[in-house]
This record gives sequence, structure tokens and C-alpha cells, in this order.
Amino acid sequence: MNPLAILSLIAAVAPTFINALATPSVGTAVAAGYLLLNPTEGPAKLKALADNAATLPVNRVYLSFVRPDMVYVPGSNTLQYADIGYATSGDWGFAEVKQRVTQLQAGGVEVFLSMGGWNYNCYPYFYTKYSIGSGAGPNQWKITQYGGGNVNNCNESNMWCYTCEPESQMTTLKDFIIFPEPANTATWKAAQAKIKAGAKGNPVTWHPEFLPGSPVTDPVDKTTITTVPGNGYFASQGRDPYADLVSLAKDLNLDGVDIDYEEMWHADTFRTQTTFSDYKLDQTVYKYSAIMADVVAAIQANYSTCKLSTAAGAAGGDSGHWWGGNLKGLWYYSNLWYPDITKFMSVGANAGGINVMTYDLSNNPQFSECPQPGVCDLAGQVNYYMGTYAQAGIVARVGYEIGQPAYPDPSNDPTHQIPLTQAALTSILSQQTSASSVGGFFWELYKPKNSDPTGATGQPNNIDATTLAQQVCAKVLPNASRCKGVIPQVGGGPTPSTTGPVPSSSVKPSTTTSVIPASSPIPSSTKVITSTSKIVPSSTTSKIVTTGSSSCKGSCATYGASQCCSGTEYYCGGASPYTWLVWYQGC
Ligand SMILES: *[C@@H]1O[C@H](CO)[C@@H](O)[C@H](O)[C@H]1NC(C)=O
Ligand SMILES: *[C@@H]1O[C@H](CO)[C@@H](O)[C@H](O)[C@H]1NC(C)=O
Ligand SMILES: *[C@@H]1O[C@H](CO)[C@@H](O)[C@H](O)[C@H]1NC(C)=O
Repeated sequence: MNPLAILSLIAAVAPTFINALATPSVGTAVAAGYLLLNPTEGPAKLKALADNAATLPVNRVYLSFVRPDMVYVPGSNTLQYADIGYATSGDWGFAEVKQRVTQLQAGGVEVFLSMGGWNYNCYPYFYTKYSIGSGAGPNQWKITQYGGGNVNNCNESNMWCYTCEPESQMTTLKDFIIFPEPANTATWKAAQAKIKAGAKGNPVTWHPEFLPGSPVTDPVDKTTITTVPGNGYFASQGRDPYADLVSLAKDLNLDGVDIDYEEMWHADTFRTQTTFSDYKLDQTVYKYSAIMADVVAAIQANYSTCKLSTAAGAAGGDSGHWWGGNLKGLWYYSNLWYPDITKFMSVGANAGGINVMTYDLSNNPQFSECPQPGVCDLAGQVNYYMGTYAQAGIVARVGYEIGQPAYPDPSNDPTHQIPLTQAALTSILSQQTSASSVGGFFWELYKPKNSDPTGATGQPNNIDATTLAQQVCAKVLPNASRCKGVIPQVGGGPTPSTTGPVPSSSVKPSTTTSVIPASSPIPSSTKVITSTSKIVPSSTTSKIVTTGSSSCKGSCATYGASQCCSGTEYYCGGASPYTWLVWYQGC
């Protein structure tokens, strides 16, 4: 697709955006916080929130996370096979969680249940090999450090070079799960049929052989066999986890469900390439959209008041060129081909909203992390990414993160982290007009701020959860008394901040760029639509040599270099030895 075609697509959808924003649906003004549950502290945190529901500075709580390979039999009243992270015996916390949900709702707080999160999306072998390992991106150093620079040395003994999680998290394969294709269920088959009927990209191919707990052969090298992360119990029971999620929400009386889908490994394994600059993630658009269609159908059939939200990647609304990694354009194309799914989530009674993970961003010029020249600070980047969703006609909600970001990895590149400061928050909130604002959400209700003022891990002026929540709340719900409330400390009082480095919050919904596995020297965030309607490569990773002579191409030694030659922009790429490839006409 050439740059002009991209621009005309944007123009075509712009009016939808204006209409959609003029009438944000009732009930979408939301200030939300994720609550990460674990059996040790989760019950006390949920109780503290429930006991103080009326004065929480949020009006929605996301319980996180259930497994994407979960099983819930309607009426069974147990969380045993959903693994919400609450208790590990009896009904696994079902009755107690249900009671807390009732308390929160009585205090005016909606409760959603989220499926996914970073760890429940990451397939270490494939992510390392095809996302991180296929280019000189910002996480390539892990392959150098743990695999001596050779991706083939990344294996289970070193957790595939610790790309899914830092070594310090001490993860094992059991900590990871993928979103399965429950191929033997009627509900999934119905979702597949809907997706196939609306497919406007490459022909649809499904991959039910990626069955959690079973071996699968690498479809690219056709040799390496690995075990798919997760558990195949759902398949043995003939169940569909996406339908079961809705049944569980119904039995817990929840307000909504949330899908936090981040399978970059899938996009990079199944991507197709036409030219150097034009990868496509059509198969991942189909898979994500099928999951959402399945959930929508379950809601319509079995729990019609249930809302649906999704956590979306920062670059996901962007229609520009994709070089791999970060799920760029996933929500853009899902909306383009399956607008009913986006509409279900963003307009009307079931609208839970599209929550954009505009955090864990970086300003490292080496990897062209600033989406446009000069747009490097947090507020500027948030505004840019939210703008891409707006251009795509997708009404969306801003995401914030408390404390130390997980990306760039603070052990490797702490100086290019851009944590949330008061100045950044003030600027972000001022960019959100009251007519368009559908609120904000943050990770996480009990994540401490980092009060270490200086040094490699220092995060000067980053703000705590209550400070953030109060201001987002006041913006979204003017005059609501809850906005002056605090997030209760477990055991009473406000949550204290901590000093020093904060461990990476491993399972959170991470932003697209956070784990940007740039699969080429030109990370996807370099795409720029300039005022001259041209997509230009980043000057930081590409040398633009403009000459007019016919022999202007010269030698192509630096992978990722580009130049304008007689009106055609060329890239130095392909397999080594590299060759000049046409990028676009009209430079
Ligand atoms: C895993 O890779 C390391 C090198 O990184 C190597 O020493 C080890 O033998 C490999 N283990 C297996 C089981 O292949
Ligand atoms: C609705 O629930 C029933 C009973 O659990 C189930 O059999 C059916 O598949 C569900 N429908 C959808 C569309 O998910
Ligand atoms: C908030 O309160 C102020 C002062 O009481 C009032 O003027 C304003 O209209 C209120 N805003 C909303 C949205 O209720």
C-alpha cells in the first residue's frame, strides 16, 4: 500500500470519528484502575476497596487476570479453572469475590474481569525467535547477553533469553499462556465463520494446532518442536474459554469483561511481507477479531447487559507501515473489517470501551521511539497515539501507569524511561476535551510510586495511584465527591510510596511499544505522516541521501539505510548481501 492510499483511508474514516465523538454513549465516562490479584495480598486489597467503595477515586475496577485457557461451567460457582489469582482451595474464592463485587457496585463502582495480560500472551520461543530475534531492536541485547548473540542459543534453560520477562522475575514456562483457538466448539466455529465472511486481507488461515499443553512444530522453520504454553483442559472438556468468561461474569454478577490481547509472537510468526516496508498482520487481525466476536456472541446470547472492553496497544490504531512487533494497526484493521465489534465495545449499552495502553513508552532515539520528530515526551506521545485512534474513528480511553515503567528494561536503558509525572498528567488531561473524553484507566491500584530521586532507577516526580486517580476522576466525573477519596491502604490509610527500584509488574497489560521487538532497524514507531503527506524514515536509523543522478543508489551496506533516487525512495534491506528495494514513489 502506498502512502497516498494510507492517507485516503484516513480521510475516508474521519467523518465517522467526528460523529462518534459528538455523542459518547452514556456510561462511558470512566475512571478505572486494574487490580492485580494474587492469593497472598489479593483478598485483603479487594476487601479494602469494597469496604471503601463509595469514596474510591475510580468508578470501575478491573479484576485481573483470568487465564485465556480458562474453563467455567455455568452454575458451578468455582474459580478453580479460571485461576483468577485469589485462592487455591474450596471454591477458589468464588463466593467471596462475588460478595466484594456486590459491595463495590453498591458503592457506585463497576467491576470488570480481565482475561490476558502480558504473561498470558507471551510464547517465549516464538516471541524470542520472530519478534526479538529478527532485527536489531531495543530488546536484541537479551539475545546477546543470554544467547551469545545467536537466537538458537535461547532455549528453555535460559527461558528463551528472558525476552518475555526479565531473569529477575524467575519465570518458568508455566507462567505463560497463549490465547487458544477452541476449534472443536460450535461457538468458536460461528466466530470463525463471521471473521472469514468479513475478511478483506490475505486468505484466513487458522492455527488450532497451537493447543496449550501440546507440542507444536514451528510453522516457519518447520523443524523446531516446542510445547505450547498453557493447559489443554478446556479442549478435553469441549469448552470455549471465551464463552465461559461471559458465563463466569454472569454468575459473579459482574458489569463487564475485558480482553487484554497482546500476542506479538503470533503477529511476527504469521506476518506476511510484500516489500521491505510492508509487513501485514492480517492473520492476527483475524484471530483477535474472532476472539472478540466470540465474546460478543456469548454476551448477546447469555448475558445481554454485560459490557465489553479491550486493552489496545498504543500503536494499534495506526494505519502506517508496519515492520513487525508492537501489533501496530491491529485495532485499525479490526475496526476497518469488523466495525460491528468496535462499535459493540465503544457505543451503546454494552460499551466497556477501548483502553489504549499509552504507557511504557520510550524516548530512545537509537530505536526511533519518538513517533514523530520532536514528539518524545510522554504527553506528546500519548496525544499522538490517541490521535491515531481518533483518525481511525475509534473512540478510545487513555492509559496511565504508576511508578517505574517496565520498558525500556531499567536494567539496560533506564535513562530512556518516561514515567508519569504531574507535569505530564496535567498536559495529557488538558489535551482531552470534555466532549471526547471517555475517561482514563491505569495500571495498577496498588502499584507503588518509585520515590528514588536519582540514579539509574530514579523516577523523579512520578506520581502515586491516588494522585493520578483523583485527577482523572475529576476530569471524567466533574464534581463527583468520590474524586476526593483515596485508594485505601490494606489495613487502613492511604497507600504509601516506596523508595527504590520497583520490580517489573510482570503480568500487566503492557503497551505495544513496551516490548517493542523492532524487527528491523526501522521500528514501527518511526512511521511518520508529515505535513507534506509523505512517509519518511527516521533520520536516526536511516541515512537519507538525496541525489538526482541515475547512478545515485551507490553501495548498499547499511541495513535500513534509505535514499531518494530520481523520485523513488529506496531501502537497503532483504537478505545479506543487502540490496536496494523500492520503498515508495514520489520522494
Ligand atoms: C540451551 O542453550 C545453552 C546456550 O545458551 C546451551 O548451553 C544448552 O546446552 C542449551 N540447552 C538445551 C537443552 O539445548
Ligand atoms: C450460552 O450459554 C449456553 C449454556 O452454557 C451455551 O451452551 C451456549 O454456547 C452459549 N452461547 C454462546 C453464543 O456463547
Ligand atoms: C460542578 O459544580 C459547579 C459549582 O457548583 C457548577 O457550576 C457546575 O455546573 C458543576 N458541573 C457539573 C458537570 O455538574
